[in-house]
Amino acid sequence: MNYSFTYFNEFGDLCKADFKVNEYHSLMELLFDKYVEEWGDCKGRAWCGTCHIEILEGHLTQTIDKDERQTLLVIDGTSSKSRLACQIPVNEKLNNMVFKIKPRS
Ligand code: FES
Repeated sequence: MNYSFTYFNEFGDLCKADFKVNEYHSLMELLFDKYVEEWGDCKGRAWCGTCHIEILEGHLTQTIDKDERQTLLVIDGTSSKSRLACQIPVNEKLNNMVFKIKPRS
């Protein structure tokens, strides 16, 4: 079954992406492969913060682990809705979510 989500890219354009569950290891890898260039400097280790997104609609149930929390503390422009896309699994929870890719600081 195909799912989809919506996001605003770094230029503020509204985009839609289709995905299959577990098609990629993380949301960062999915977006890097299909839609976004120059992303994920640390290759998904939760260190660089380049995959910073802000959730606009929807809710992720997985908790923020220690490494993700630490990186979110040191990058600019975070909010209570901020996440690192490399820490988000590609599963049905992403279906119909809306988020925004935060520009690199
Ligand atoms: S890819 Fe570096 S923090 Fe996500």
